Parts: sequence; structure tokens; C-alpha cells
Amino acid sequence: MRILVGISGGIAAYKSIILIRRLREAGAEVRVVLTESAAQFVTPLTLQAVSGQPVRTHLFDPEAEAGMDHIALARWTDMIVIAPASADILARMASGMANDLLTTLVLATTAPVTVAPAMNQQMWAHPAVQANLSVLGKRGVHIIGPASGIQACGEVGAGRMVEPEEIAAQVLRARSRIDWRGKRVVITAAGTREPIDPVRFIANRSSGKMGFALAEAAREAGADVTLICGPNNLPTPAGVQRVDVDTALAMQSAVAAVEQMDVFIGAAAVADYRVQTPAEHKLKKSAEVDSPTLTLVKNPDIISEVAQRTAKPFVVGFAAETENLQAYAEQKRRAKGMDVICANLVGAGLAFDQPDNTLSVIWADGTQQFERADKTLLATQLIALLDKIMNRDKTDA
Ligand code: C5P
Repeated sequence: MRILVGISGGIAAYKSIILIRRLREAGAEVRVVLTESAAQFVTPLTLQAVSGQPVRTHLFDPEAEAGMDHIALARWTDMIVIAPASADILARMASGMANDLLTTLVLATTAPVTVAPAMNQQMWAHPAVQANLSVLGKRGVHIIGPASGIQACGEVGAGRMVEPEEIAAQVLRARSRIDWRGKRVVITAAGTREPIDPVRFIANRSSGKMGFALAEAAREAGADVTLICGPNNLPTPAGVQRVDVDTALAMQSAVAAVEQMDVFIGAAAVADYRVQTPAEHKLKKSAEVDSPTLTLVKNPDIISEVAQRTAKPFVVGFAAETENLQAYAEQKRRAKGMDVICANLVGAGLAFDQPDNTLSVIWADGTQQFERADKTLLATQLIALLDKIMNRDKTDA
């Protein structure tokens, strides 16, 4: 995967450094082209260090042209991603100008072009900018964002560049040729709540972010996705069918209600035990009892039940461990009949309720390590890996 990252002048240019890192971590070869004004915000030296390649700004640079001329560069790339895309570069692109290296490359390439606009909210709202964007959109340019929020200038509104991890995830999805159309995917997410009495419950720190990101990535690949989730604060990914549940038993019933599935991903942190008989009324503090006792009973193991179905789907589970990650995870994979297990270390500041995560993915005859990354990006990479493993299984059969 060869990606040309174009950077135009804007304060969000510093975030492009993270974008380049994420793309490289996902295995992309990256070359960077800066506009002259972008070089006011980030230095070519920094970008050279993160991309591992010389960075170019000028069209008429005899030395650089002797290495890979601009036409060769336009042919080399699989995709041009311009982030941030300023109002100026959008205007130059819309009118077909070729007055610097980046705009020349946009005209000279047959590769798809993606832009992530970033500018002041008033500029973003200007009819000239919107007209340029509409021209670019009709021409097939893929537009990511912008997002809304507080801007570097102190104003609030639309015009912030979408976060680099999200741009990387979208770029990788567009590049991957994963086709899960017609596949029925069921994903469990977030933690369950096991009631003690009408106001208290046993819960855990799972936020649901990983499961939601997986649902989004599977949906983007074309799958028909059902997301069965415990209580959480996350928005439903577009096009995903969501079923909200609270307890492990309710999650078990919701999963059992789905008769046919091709892939099951158990990303939920299901409570292993529940209170045997939750109190009907709020439990009172008692002067006589210092150490009250709760009797717990075992919850059903949802993922094992799915793995035992006659028409067994491809089963993917998660293992959160605080030690001996690989060994415990592989044990768990076999014990529960999973095809793939994704293991992560948990503890203070790790995984649970965090935006990023690391993953060791283990299957019958392979492993892969994903370095610490945003969960959206990890989910995209994980779906791509699952696709590879499933197809390999098919080829073997
Ligand atoms: O045994 P442990 O809870 O570590 O296993 C984790 C995996 O099993 C996760 O994929 C989780 O969603 C699934 N699980 C389940 N039902 C349970 C407990 C765990 O589906 N009762």
C-alpha cells in the first residue's frame, strides 16, 4: 500500500505526523508532499523522520526530480490523502490548477484522492468553499469531515480536522478489498450489570468502545451487523442494528434469538457470576451486620454456547489478562471453542475504558501482534485479519 500524504497550510498540520505514523504502522509505504505554507507549521525534517522518506515541497527541484520525478510519483501512489486540506488547496484543486507539486500530482495521478478539510468555521461555511467541495465531491474526491468543536482560533463550530486515527482507519478501509456483503455478523459489547437490589449492581470497567468500533468496521466492509450491548454511552454506528441489554442472562437470550450467523465476535465483558437472588427492595444498612454476604451463581458462557451451535459461526473472542497473556489466552481459545482470540493486558491505564489498546491475536496456526493504537484503527485492522484467516480456512478446506 503506497500512500502519498499531502499536507497544506493549517494548524492541524501537526496532526498529520500521527496520521503518517498510523499508516506506516498498518504497513503502508508513505511519501509526503508539503505545500509551501504547510512548511510554516511542520518541518520537512520531522516528516522525513516519521515517513522514513525524503519530503518534497517544490515542483521545480532538480535534485528531487532526478530521484523520482513528479509524474513517477503520481504513478507510484495508490492513494493521495490531503490532510489537512485548507480552503486554498480545495479551491486550487476545484479549479484544476497545477501551481505547486501537490496540485500537479492531483492532476497527474489516476489514484483516488481523499481530503480532510480543516479551517476556521466561518471559512468552512463560506459559499465559495462549499461550492468547491461540491465540485470535488462530484469529481469523485472522497471527503472526510470536518468535525465540529473548539478551534485553534478559539471559535466553536464545524471546521476541525477529523482526528488522524479516524482518517487512517477510513483510508485503510477504502484500500482494503474486504467484501463482507451478505455476511451476518453478531457482536457483543460493553459490560453487563448484575443487580444486587433495585438500585445497586455489579459491573466492570468495559466501555464498549472496541465492540462498537468492530461493529462499525464490519458494517463498512458490507456486513449485516447486529450489536448486542450492555449499558454504555456510545452512539450507534450507522447501519448497525443495536440491541440493548443489561444482564448476562439478557445478553444470552438476545444472542440466542439470532438464529443464523456467519461470524460471532464476543467483545463484551460478561460478568462471570450474578447475585443468586437480587433483593426486591433496596437493602438497608444494618447496625448488627458488619460483613454482609452476597451469594453468587455462575452466569452462562455466551461465547461457548455459540461455539457449540450445530451451524457454528466463525467465533472470535477477547481475553483480558493481567499476566501470562499468550498462554492464558490460547488455553481460553481452546476451552471455549473459539477460532480466534484477541488478547490484551489489562490493569491501571490499560485497555478498559481507554481510547487505545494493544492486541495479540491468536488462532489455530498463527499469531499477530497489533501495536498500541486507537480502537477504531485496531478494529479495521482486526476485521482485515479475520477476513484473511477465514479465507485461508476456506482455501484449506
Ligand atoms: O473467560 P473470560 O471472561 O476471560 O472470556 C472472555 C471471552 O468470553 C470474551 O470474548 C467474552 O465476551 C466471552 N464471555 C462470554 N460469556 C461469559 C464470559 C465471557 O461470552 N459468561
